[in-house]
Amino acid sequence: MSERLIVALDSNDINKIKMLVDRLQNVVKYFKVGAIPFTCFGPEIIRFLKERGLKVMLDLKYHDIPNTVARACEGAMELGVDMLTMHTSGGFMMMEETVKAVSIVSDVKKLPKPKLLGITTLTSIDEAYFKDLFGDVKRTIEEQVVFLARLAQSAGLDGVVASPQEIESIRKYCGKDFLIVTPGIRTEGEMIDDQARTMTPARAIKAGADFIVVGRPIIAAKDPLNAAKNIIKEIENAG
Ligand code: C5P
Repeated sequence: MSERLIVALDSNDINKIKMLVDRLQNVVKYFKVGAIPFTCFGPEIIRFLKERGLKVMLDLKYHDIPNTVARACEGAMELGVDMLTMHTSGGFMMMEETVKAVSIVSDVKKLPKPKLLGITTLTSIDEAYFKDLFGDVKRTIEEQVVFLARLAQSAGLDGVVASPQEIESIRKYCGKDFLIVTPGIRTEGEMIDDQARTMTPARAIKAGADFIVVGRPIIAAKDPLNAAKNIIKEIENAG
């Protein structure tokens, strides 16, 4: 059973999701519910996972005014999610207000506190596109990611989602207790799809990732269980 592999259930086919969870639940503890399954199936998909005793990362990447994000996160707590994401570029106040709200709801309603994670710069964005998007920026992607990670940490978030290539710098500036969750994982020689800043599971773990998020290399594999087991083996050998 791996606690460090998070499988992204990026599918709009409920039968496929249920089949994947059936096959993987004895070896994978954490599943990521992002925009695709949540838009198609709503909170029901979270209840389905929680009833099986599994852990849920709710990855809706909130990016809105502080009140909206804080109230949405309170709602997510009622569903029992274990991790949830918001964009660090939503700003310090958005993150800080959410941290406070989650803490109050946890005390008052005795609900467990989910880990709050900040999205830094999407792993599909490369250096050239980054410059296109933000114009004449002085920072590289790596400097931008470290800046956003430090902002998230100062607002009280538990960690960030960042590409494998930025793990070492985030560790250096944010310390060993700050969680780093890393998508953009591809095994040696595999198609990178729309990801730009990728790394193998072993290298991401060695670089200091706490969790790795894997979608298509597992859910689109002919044998998802075998694909997951190979990645878990790599994680165990590297950690
Ligand atoms: O299929 P693949 O392994 O590329 O899926 C990666 C997952 O991680 C997707 O669900 C994607 O939304 C998510 N993600 C990402 N980059 C981020 C944050 C989340 O790829 N910065």
